[in-house]
Amino acid sequence: MTPIMDKQTYLKEYLDFAIKLSKDAGVIIKKAIDKRMKGGQANILLKYDNPSDLVTETDQAVEQFIKDRLTNTYPTHRFIGEETMAAGTETIFTSEPTWIVDPIDGTTNFVHGYPFVAVSIGLTIDKIPVLGVVYNPLLDELYSAAKGLGAFLNQTIPLPLYQSPLIDLSQCLIATEAGSDRSSGVLDKKIDVIHTLLRRTGGVEAHSIRATGSAALNMCSVAKGCVDVYWEVGCWEWDVTAAIVILQEAGGIVVSGDNQRDESPVNIFSRKYLAIRAADTKSSQLKIAHQMWDILPDIDASRPSVPGGFEPLV
Ligand code: IPD
Repeated sequence: MTPIMDKQTYLKEYLDFAIKLSKDAGVIIKKAIDKRMKGGQANILLKYDNPSDLVTETDQAVEQFIKDRLTNTYPTHRFIGEETMAAGTETIFTSEPTWIVDPIDGTTNFVHGYPFVAVSIGLTIDKIPVLGVVYNPLLDELYSAAKGLGAFLNQTIPLPLYQSPLIDLSQCLIATEAGSDRSSGVLDKKIDVIHTLLRRTGGVEAHSIRATGSAALNMCSVAKGCVDVYWEVGCWEWDVTAAIVILQEAGGIVVSGDNQRDESPVNIFSRKYLAIRAADTKSSQLKIAHQMWDILPDIDASRPSVPGGFEPLV
């Protein structure tokens, strides 16, 4: 990047770079899953000894591949990656360009061969998410966006694909996830929300619930317009930063997934996300957000104390 470049020109340069990088990472993921589906081992490891939070040697290898390529190309940029942080590196968040990467979002799907697996590459500048690429190498679907440049599927098809008025939560298809915290204090509350969303008597009786097993792909489904709402508590900045930009550029909003009713764009480190698809008016999006907030309990998603810490140092 040269100083005379305007913002959109260097964002386009970063975007082209991230798209190529995601495709190269996708080749590694695809080869590994093909090998595994022919009887190979996934070499599954547990993160923090949690049997519901899987990591594989492929997650680690893909993250190293992405990190090396980023560091060689943009040596002054910062890096936050799922496996790097899990290994105990501090999360340092500054105004410098910062790549926020999940090498495999949907690791459990990767282990089982369920085809919702994505590499997720986001970029923040001045602490604002400005670029996102989410690539599913199994379905060969690439979602990409940069601030002011629009959001696309496979680089040419503008998002959203589907558009219709947002009327009421009862008419919505809602994505959510069990997540990796299976303590009853957290799980019971999430199940209660799902029950309220689906129940007829005293509930919302929404159209239905979906879960792809990938936070990034859930949010990209909202960007596409085939899912109306995505709510999750407990995922991380690397799961969502790229997809937040894609959804915002597709006309959607992402606000806090707790019950504080904050209508401003979500803090990417909050671990509580509520995404609403594009609609003809902002007020119809906020109506859906408030209907969700009406039923959301307070769920603990504090950043656990692990070696290196997980509080972003700003
Ligand atoms: C997970 C997926 C999953 C979500 C979890 C995430 P990972 O990411 O996005 O859908 O429910 O909260 O941790 O571990 O597969 O990268």
